[in-house]
Amino acid sequence: MLPDSPVRIRPARDDDRLPLAGMFAEAAEELDSIATEPPVDVRARAASWTIDETLVAVTGDEVIGSIHVGRSGHGFGEVGMTVAREWRGRGVGSVLLAAAIEWAREQGLHKLSLGVFAHNAAGIALYRKFGFVEEGRRVKQYRRQNGELWDAIDMGLLL
Ligand SMILES: CC(C)(COP(=O)(O)OP(=O)(O)OC[C@H]1O[C@@H](n2cnc3c(N)ncnc32)[C@H](O)[C@@H]1OP(=O)(O)O)[C@@H](O)C(=O)NCCC(=O)NCCS
Repeated sequence: MLPDSPVRIRPARDDDRLPLAGMFAEAAEELDSIATEPPVDVRARAASWTIDETLVAVTGDEVIGSIHVGRSGHGFGEVGMTVAREWRGRGVGSVLLAAAIEWAREQGLHKLSLGVFAHNAAGIALYRKFGFVEEGRRVKQYRRQNGELWDAIDMGLLL
């Protein structure tokens, strides 16, 4: 279910850079869902963000989610996404991913790929809902700052 206020998906713009980097830094601070861990250099991340490969979810003027499809040059795109914590579980991730799949098809990509931590139930549920299948498991792939070694699942969707 979407939030009460209307949520729009649109291509990212230059003035989204700081909000995008800020949201990314907040996700990193949660320590459990994305590979990057703090500290995030928000200004550097904002400056290097690939805006033309990003869609944002906005309500009013606020960016509440984003999805990035990195074009590989080999026909597949690598997906990364974040929904602001207070907006999760309300369908924002679903509308973002649906829009990204459509965008990827329009770009002529033949496949979307991603890696997700094996414990990331919300992420895995979202990707499965859109037909992504598990293609493998990278065992103890990520060494975290706390010393733990985390598995990641590779998932893919043929377009
Ligand atoms: C993963 C993430 C993008 C999902 O976005 P979202 O807006 O919460 O997703 P939605 O509300 O559209 O939910 C999608 C599906 O996942 C399911 N889901 C959501 N949260 C869940 C949870 N914690 N456990 C199990 N399933 C869950 C929902 O039931 C929904 O399925 P349904 O429509 O059939 O009910 C969001 O949780 C997030 O930003 N997490 C932190 C960053 C992250 O993990 N990024 C992905 C890294 S690979």
